Amino acid sequence: MIHSTIFVAVACLASIASAAASPLHGRSLVTRPEIKAWPHSPGTHNSVSPSRSRSRYCTVKPTKNGGDDAGNILKAFHKCNDGGTVVLDANYTIASPLDLTFLKHIDVAITGTVNFATNISYWTDHMFKYAYQDATAFWRFGGKDVNIFGHGVGVLNGNGQPWYDGFAANSSLLRPVLFLLDGLQGGSVTGLNMINPPSWFNLIANSTDIIVSDIKLKVGSTNANPAKNTDGWDTYRSDSIVIQNSVINNGDDCVSFKPNSTNIVVQGLQCNGSHGISVGSLGQYAEEFDVVENVYVYNISMSNASDGARIKVWPGVYTNFQDNLNGGGGSGYVKNVTYDGMSNTNNDWAIELTQCYGQKNLTLCNQYPSNMIISDIVFKNMWGVTSKKYDPKVGTLVCSDASKCVNIQAHNISVTPPSGKTATWVCTNMDNSLLDINCIS
Ligand SMILES: *[C@@H]1O[C@H](CO)[C@@H](O)[C@H](O)[C@H]1NC(C)=O
Ligand SMILES: *[C@@H]1O[C@H](CO)[C@@H](O)[C@H](O)[C@H]1NC(C)=O
Ligand SMILES: *[C@@H]1O[C@H](CO)[C@@H](O)[C@H](O)[C@H]1NC(C)=O
Ligand SMILES: *[C@@H]1O[C@H](CO)[C@@H](O)[C@H](O)[C@H]1NC(C)=O
Ligand SMILES: *[C@@H]1O[C@H](CO)[C@@H](O)[C@H](O)[C@H]1NC(C)=O
Ligand SMILES: *[C@@H]1O[C@H](CO)[C@@H](O)[C@H](O)[C@H]1NC(C)=O
Ligand SMILES: *[C@@H]1O[C@H](CO)[C@@H](O)[C@H](O)[C@H]1NC(C)=O
Ligand SMILES: *[C@@H]1O[C@H](CO)[C@@H](O)[C@H](O)[C@H]1NC(C)=O
Ligand SMILES: *[C@@H]1O[C@H](CO)[C@@H](O)[C@H](O)[C@H]1NC(C)=O
Ligand SMILES: *[C@@H]1O[C@H](CO)[C@@H](O)[C@H](O)[C@H]1NC(C)=O
Ligand SMILES: *[C@@H]1O[C@H](CO)[C@@H](O)[C@H](O)[C@H]1NC(C)=O
Repeated sequence: MIHSTIFVAVACLASIASAAASPLHGRSLVTRPEIKAWPHSPGTHNSVSPSRSRSRYCTVKPTKNGGDDAGNILKAFHKCNDGGTVVLDANYTIASPLDLTFLKHIDVAITGTVNFATNISYWTDHMFKYAYQDATAFWRFGGKDVNIFGHGVGVLNGNGQPWYDGFAANSSLLRPVLFLLDGLQGGSVTGLNMINPPSWFNLIANSTDIIVSDIKLKVGSTNANPAKNTDGWDTYRSDSIVIQNSVINNGDDCVSFKPNSTNIVVQGLQCNGSHGISVGSLGQYAEEFDVVENVYVYNISMSNASDGARIKVWPGVYTNFQDNLNGGGGSGYVKNVTYDGMSNTNNDWAIELTQCYGQKNLTLCNQYPSNMIISDIVFKNMWGVTSKKYDPKVGTLVCSDASKCVNIQAHNISVTPPSGKTATWVCTNMDNSLLDINCIS
């Protein structure tokens, strides 16, 4: 009796151990991972995604010779919509636009590679086009209750190099974002590797109640033409969004909160080479009213960036900044944004708050203060060493008028410049009594 009990216990342990050693085998690859917002969550939504049918898997077979798989992928989504799981476990090419905004209650296992074809003249005529910042896309996801997961092995490859080359020759070239959620209510995006987007990696637009977790982003040009505007995530007209536990290697904003981003949590990111975690830019369109409210940015490791924590709004006057990027005069507000916990390694500014985005003429900027009010902002628990670019200055908080910046606080900031000199901060039109930093102006 005693012997057989021990035997059973050992056999049990052995099967658990072998399952743990190869967690990606069999069913588990097509099963949605358990993902929770952690440790913070916006607390605004609590939708539950029911599990999918165990008998409805739509596995897409790739066409031979790298032909266009968009049609077969679309069919699979129609077939497995409302309760099933689409499985993309091979090497695919998307060479025509793919509109997946009709989804409901569906899981998507991307454990293979999705490549995007590089026929620029074709895409220029056929990709999805949006008014906001001339965004464009190869494909788009929207609907209700959609979970997209890659278990750490799935790849979305934007094949950006021809786009970087094209953009170097023609700065008006519109380049698609790699991954677009447009109107998704409830869902998750997890465990994917995204490489070389033509422009932004991710745009989360018109969406609510989304968790993004365990994503790796990496971009690099193979020649002298840089990969430009490779924002990690941009949120736009979206509420209750979590972006967490991810590794970002890019050359523009790591995460950026565009107009009407509310109840957002960003936590546990390692950003390298970016422009920081940015509110904005906002106030770009004179006829529009932009809101960014209730944002918590926590536990960020920021390296080799132009900025760590950043708030950028346009001045109250029209500004010609770059091709495809100009504006100013728009109104609205930024309210209740907290940056809590950020390590700095070789960033130019640990904090940058500007109301003069894109405008080099400061006289003009001060003459036309921003129409955006920034209030109830906290920067706290930040440490590390900046780059030598502005040494001994380590940060800049510049308001276009004292009435435009209300209750901006900084506490427990121990960022130093590499020279070892006393750190200094540029503070203009701020209430310095709320800033526990060494303001020099
Ligand atoms: C996947 O498909 C792309 C595009 O057709 C091709 O360039 C690449 O070599 C393929 N990769 C593999 C591993 O088959
Ligand atoms: C690219 O697309 C254009 C326009 O759709 C087409 O005429 C051309 O043949 C395509 N080129 C390649 C190499 O497929
Ligand atoms: C540059 O790209 C734009 C947008 O795609 C296009 O309309 C224009 O013709 C291109 N210019 C040249 C010189 O190719
Ligand atoms: C978001 O919704 C608005 C209003 O319906 C629409 O105009 C826009 O195209 C949608 N998508 C994006 C990315 O802006
Ligand atoms: C901070 O983020 C890292 C990932 O970058 C994670 O491993 C760690 O658990 C997080 N710590 C806290 C306290 O949230
Ligand atoms: C971080 O980015 C720099 C370029 O800014 C790059 O040289 C370096 O390899 C990146 N680090 C990692 C770990 O990828
Ligand atoms: C943002 O929200 C405000 C107020 O809720 C609204 O007036 C404005 O039109 C929205 N702007 C955009 C770009 O959706
Ligand atoms: C401020 O935002 C935080 C999330 O960052 C939220 O928990 C809190 O309720 C907000 N405060 C107000 C007054 O809305
Ligand atoms: C920052 O950049 C340097 C030089 O490019 C690189 O060696 C280092 O790994 C980067 N830091 C991180 C955390 O990636
Ligand atoms: C900056 O703006 C001021 C005020 O409008 C103007 O007088 C001045 O000429 C401008 N300077 C430059 C260099 O454009
Ligand atoms: C101040 O920030 C450091 C990180 O630099 C953190 O370890 C410490 O707990 C913070 N102190 C307070 C009082 O919050």
